[in-house]
Formats: sequence, C-alpha cells, structure tokens
Amino acid sequence: MAGRSVVVGVGHYLPERVVPNSEFEQTLDTTDEWIRTRSGIERRHFAAEGETTSDLATNAAKAALADAGLEADDIDAIVLATSTADLTFPSAATMVQARLGMTRGFAFDVQAVCAGFVFALSNANALILSGQAKRVLVIGAETFSRIMDWTDRSTCVLFGDGAGALILEEQDSAGTSNDRGILATDLNSDGRYQELLYVDGGVSTQSTGHLRMQGNQVFRHAVEKLAKTANTALDRAGLAASDVDWIVPHQANIRIIQGTAKKMGLPMENVVVTVQDHGNTSAASIPLALSVGKQRGQIKQGDLIVTEAIGGGLAWGAVVLRW
Ligand code: UT7
Repeated sequence: MAGRSVVVGVGHYLPERVVPNSEFEQTLDTTDEWIRTRSGIERRHFAAEGETTSDLATNAAKAALADAGLEADDIDAIVLATSTADLTFPSAATMVQARLGMTRGFAFDVQAVCAGFVFALSNANALILSGQAKRVLVIGAETFSRIMDWTDRSTCVLFGDGAGALILEEQDSAGTSNDRGILATDLNSDGRYQELLYVDGGVSTQSTGHLRMQGNQVFRHAVEKLAKTANTALDRAGLAASDVDWIVPHQANIRIIQGTAKKMGLPMENVVVTVQDHGNTSAASIPLALSVGKQRGQIKQGDLIVTEAIGGGLAWGAVVLRW
C-alpha cells in the first residue's frame, strides 16, 4: 500500500469583464487577426477595479470545496501559486484561509510564475507524502492585468486574469501506475534566462514594474523544454505518451501547445485548450483548464493527465496524475 495525492474537487473563477482582441485595435498598432494567428487568443478576462488575486482565488477555492463536498476546516493546508499577490505580505494564501473561515492548518504562496501551478502541485504532493497534511487546497490565481505595459503590443495582448483550484486528498493505493492521484513530477529552473521574461520592478527595487518578455526567445525554450519535461515525468511514472488521455498544458500560445503535442506524438484531440477564452493567466491557466475540461466532459475519473508549463525564471516542469 502506498499513499497517493488524489484530486477530489476542482473549481475556477473568472472575473466578469471579457475583453475581445478588437478592443486592443483601438489603442495599439495591432489586429484581431495578428493576435489570433500568432497566439490563438481571442478574448481574456480582466479583474474589476479593486478586485484582487485573493478575491479570485477565494472564489475558485469555494467552487473546488463545493465540488469535493468539503468544508474549509476539512483542509490541512493551502498552497497558492501566484506572482501577483494582493500585498507584499502576508501571502495571498493566508488571506484566502481567513476568507474561507479556515481556522486551522497552514497556508503559503509559491512563486514560479507561469510554472507556478506545477510547482505548487508538486509541493502539495510532497506535503501529503511526507505526512504533513492529508488534504491540501492547491490554487493558481493571477491578476496579470496589473503588471501590463499597455503601450507594449508584444505583451499586453497576451495575458489575462483568473483563478483555478483543486483539492488533493491522501488516499491509500496499490502503488502502481494504475493508481488514481499524482504519479510523478518533474521540476526545473535555470536562472541564467532571467532577462527573457521578468517584471522590471519589485519590493527591493521600490516599484511595481511591468512585464517584459522576449517572446520569440521564450517560445524557442518552450518548444524545446515542455515535451522533454512531460516525457521525463511520464518515465518516472513508468508510463509513455501513448498512455496519456489528456495533455493539460499551460495556456500561453496555441502554437506552443500544438508543437508540444506533436513532439509527444499526440493529436490535438488529446489536448485541453482554453487559451482562446482566457489568454495567458500564468499560474492560473492549468487549474482553469482542468476545471473547464471537467465541465466540458473531457476529463473523467481514471483519465491519465499530464500537465506542463514554462515561464519566468526560466522555470518549467510537469506533473503526471490520474484523475
Ligand atoms: O507564459 C509564459 C511563457 N510565455 C510564452 O510562452 C510566450 C511565448 N511567446 C509567444 O507566444 C510568441 O513569441 C508571441 C505571441 C509573443 C509572438 O509571436 P512570434 O511569432 O514569436 O512573433 P515575434 O515576437 O517574432 O514578432 C513578429 C512580429 C514583429 O514585427 P517585426 O519585427 O517582424 O516587424 C513584432 O513587432 O510581430 C510584431 N508584433 C505584433 N504585431 C501586431 C508583436 N506583437 C504584435 C501585435 N500586433 N500585438
């Protein structure tokens, strides 16, 4: 018998305001056609004035708790992936903890930018496998609209706001690759690539800053690294790409998503795609896609899923789990 971290609930929340590509045509030298063909994005949601990352995260967490049929005090820990927390401190996770009325356990943020949810899942799994928590609420939540340079057409058309959450629960299992739950993870980073994707401000430099990206360079690393990390995680689980029911990728660019699926030898029928509706929501994109994928009837219990993501750091990784 072995313990596994099994998904028992999932949910998401998107801010009300939907912004179509055409809105950017009014202020920037860009077109709906360029944004669609280069990125696959058609629209994105932006948080309302005063609506913060912890607001989005709390709503997603409530949806996941409802899906699992659990109360806040059934949760031992909250791990929240974000690069856009409400305040410098405390963590957005502890704000969510209070908002949920959870008076026990512990909560903290994980910061690995667009790879944040993969890092959070892997850490939540480690908390469960090391006996520090039996149920962990794992959230990805972002308000990237707050760090956009609205005069930079090469970045501001790509990102959106949102949140997704899932609940992992320790369950006994046979210890084989047929088990439900997280089967393997693979995490990587290489800080030498900082200049490819970063925010040019922060607490220690006394400003908020804006996102800066050399998009085509990040694209090159993404295509090279994502299939590799996914295959590494599958190897560790004793599985192959041909066993995968769903790739649930970080939703940054449809061409990266297609390139990764192709490298893994899987058709697009096996990929959950939400980039057209959400844009790049950084750490929120994978849990959003998991929740939407379940709602659409794509993801079902027993399905083998591989999630993969890359972003600022560079940081990248993959998680293999059976739903
Ligand atoms: O989630 C974190 C990870 N981030 C990513 O994965 C993003 C990865 N990168 C990308 O998705 C793509 O590189 C972009 C969508 C950002 C850009 O696509 P690209 O095919 O790599 O285009 P490019 O950066 O090489 O730019 C091509 C042209 C340039 O014009 P010139 O220099 O060829 O004259 C840009 O100035 O497209 C121009 N351009 C635009 N044109 C119209 C850049 N942004 C726009 C725009 N509208 N919004």
